[in-house]
Amino acid sequence: MSDPGMAEKLVKALQRPDGDLALRPVHSIGIGATGYFKPSPIAGNFCVAEHFNTDKTDVSVRFSNGSGCAVVHDGWSDVRGMAVRFHLPDGTDTDLIAMTLPEFFAPTPATFLEFAEKAAPKPYEGETPWQKIWNYLQLILPKRDPYPGETISPDDGAIAYADKYAFSQLGVMQAAQIGAPTSYVRAAYHAVHTFIVTGSDGVRRWVRFSWQPIAGVLNTNPEKTPDDDFLRAELKERLSKDSARFSLMMMVGEVGDDFNNSSRPWPPHRKRIMMGTLTVNAVPEDQIAQSEKLSFNPGLLTPGIEASDDPVLKIRIDTYKTSSAWRGGSPCPFSEG
Ligand code: HEM
Repeated sequence: MSDPGMAEKLVKALQRPDGDLALRPVHSIGIGATGYFKPSPIAGNFCVAEHFNTDKTDVSVRFSNGSGCAVVHDGWSDVRGMAVRFHLPDGTDTDLIAMTLPEFFAPTPATFLEFAEKAAPKPYEGETPWQKIWNYLQLILPKRDPYPGETISPDDGAIAYADKYAFSQLGVMQAAQIGAPTSYVRAAYHAVHTFIVTGSDGVRRWVRFSWQPIAGVLNTNPEKTPDDDFLRAELKERLSKDSARFSLMMMVGEVGDDFNNSSRPWPPHRKRIMMGTLTVNAVPEDQIAQSEKLSFNPGLLTPGIEASDDPVLKIRIDTYKTSSAWRGGSPCPFSEG
């Protein structure tokens, strides 16, 4: 349900002292790329949307670091984002926004607001070696040491929240251990929410999408934190020589799976359909238009793909519009419609 008041509260809760109001409040640092999507031979059976039934669809992609910190820290542990806009042959667009975390932190907008407020980054409170040993003796994992120059902790508030609320534990634990990828195209990204797709036979299925990198997943060695700003240069260098590809996988839900709560996983043995291959092959010169000002929206869907009743998915529609307007982004085609 549309709730503009909640959307504004959420954007404000995500803004952080080391952020920049001219940038996104989260996923602030990123890079735009372009390429194309080709559906698999069976994709059209499962979804009538145009990009699953057209030989080749142009795409705009934005890869990002999840943090709202305006300073680049590519080697630090952080969730990464991959937002894809499919430019459909009929002139309309549809978005698929994904991140490296497989499950979200909270089941509803109100719980996510509380989480965002409680998990706001705080000054680092390190642990002495004695505290670490004491934690080990109590079977508690000691806190990680801050990176050189890291003065604000992204984890402490979130971990304290997860100690209280079981629903956030999976997301928080996964985020705390996520690390840093060696390349934006060596990470798997998950759209997290459930969408409903309609097949060519009219059958509707409740599904979750994820992008799997053809080059494989590879994180940096955390003991050797690489230079802070390497992911954008790596992508430019890589794509100047060759393209990078991702498979679009679609997991089909079954009765009993939670369709409206993206903090809960589905059983891993659910049927997965290979829906197509995304090729990323260029980094446009104009990064202001193709990354900074671009505005994606998880509600920008197309006939054949519907939003589930997940309340977090619903509130994101207004949240992203508000955020884009506040930072002076170009309105997404959905906002204009
Ligand atoms: C209530 C939950 C959420 C809130 C309030 C929220 C909020 C936001 C906001 C305000 C932005 C910046 C939008 C802009 O200025 O253009 C953003 C970007 C982003 N979010 Fe979320 N988000 C939520 C959940 C999620 C989930 C579940 C995912 C994973 C699928 C996700 C992935 C991303 C990504 C990848 C971006 C960057 C998009 C880009 O490159 O433009 N978010 N989010």
